[in-house]
Amino acid sequence: MTLRAVVKGVGHYLPERIVPNAEFEATLDTTDEWIKSRSGIERRHFAAEGETTSMLATKAAQAALANAGMTADDIDAIILATSTADLTFPSAATMVQANLGMKSGFAFDIQAVCAGFVFALSNANALILSGQAKRVLVIGAETFSRIMDWTDRGTCVLFGDGAGALILEAQEGAGDAADRGILSTDLNSDGTYRDLLYVDGGISTGTSGYLRMQGNQVFRHAVAKLAATATTAMERANVTTEDVDWIVPHQANIRIIQGTAKKMGIPMENVIVTVQDHGNTSAASIPLALSVGATNGQIKQGDLLVTEAIGGGLAWGAVVLRW
Ligand code: UT7
Repeated sequence: MTLRAVVKGVGHYLPERIVPNAEFEATLDTTDEWIKSRSGIERRHFAAEGETTSMLATKAAQAALANAGMTADDIDAIILATSTADLTFPSAATMVQANLGMKSGFAFDIQAVCAGFVFALSNANALILSGQAKRVLVIGAETFSRIMDWTDRGTCVLFGDGAGALILEAQEGAGDAADRGILSTDLNSDGTYRDLLYVDGGISTGTSGYLRMQGNQVFRHAVAKLAATATTAMERANVTTEDVDWIVPHQANIRIIQGTAKKMGIPMENVIVTVQDHGNTSAASIPLALSVGATNGQIKQGDLLVTEAIGGGLAWGAVVLRW
């Protein structure tokens, strides 16, 4: 028998305020049509004043716990993928731990920007396979609206706020691709691409800074690297594109999502797309898409999923799992 990290619950939370593209037309030289046609984004949610990443993460975690029929006492570890933690420290994950009333176990953040949730899933899988945790709450949560330069039309129309969460539990499998749970992972980064996508503030500047991106350069890397990492993860899981029920990609741009699916030979009917409603929510985008897809009946128990993401670093990766 082989130990597997199996999904037991999923949930998400989006801030109340919905901002349609048209709202940007008042303050920027942009149009709803440009944003829609270049990115696929139609609207996004923005957190209210005082609403922090750990607050969004806590609500997503509570939804996932309810979905799993569990309480915080059932959880051994929390991993929170975010680049917009409330404070420099402590981790937003420990704030969620406190909010959930969890007195045992351990909690920590992972920072791999838009690839954060894939990195978090891979680390949660490693904790489960090594016996260090039986149940891990894996969250992706962001408030990217806090690091937007509202005068930069090339970035501020693209990002949104939100949170999604999964609960993984150790279960015995047969050791083949028919098992439920995480079947393989692939992680990559290349720090020489730092200047393509970064925030120009932090400890070294004494400010929290603003996101800076060479969008068309990131775009050039995205399709090739995403298709390559997804293919590597699929080979490791011993599955082919014919076996895949759903690609659940990072939701940055519909043209990247379409290009990657095409390169992999997977039709768009088999891709979960939420970018039109959420914008790019960085580490939250994959768990949000998983939660939306599971809630609306697209993703069913037993389906084979491939998640893939790329972001600042550059950092990129993929996870193959059976729901
Ligand atoms: O999640 C982390 C990873 N990030 C991504 O995956 C983002 C990847 N990049 C993208 O999604 C796309 O590159 C963008 C959506 C950011 C931009 O699309 P693009 O087709 O690459 O356009 P571009 O950057 O080459 O810009 C084309 C033109 C430029 O004008 P000129 O120089 O051709 O006159 C921009 O100044 O579009 C202009 N532009 C805009 N026009 C209207 C840029 N932003 C806007 C805007 N409204 N909001």
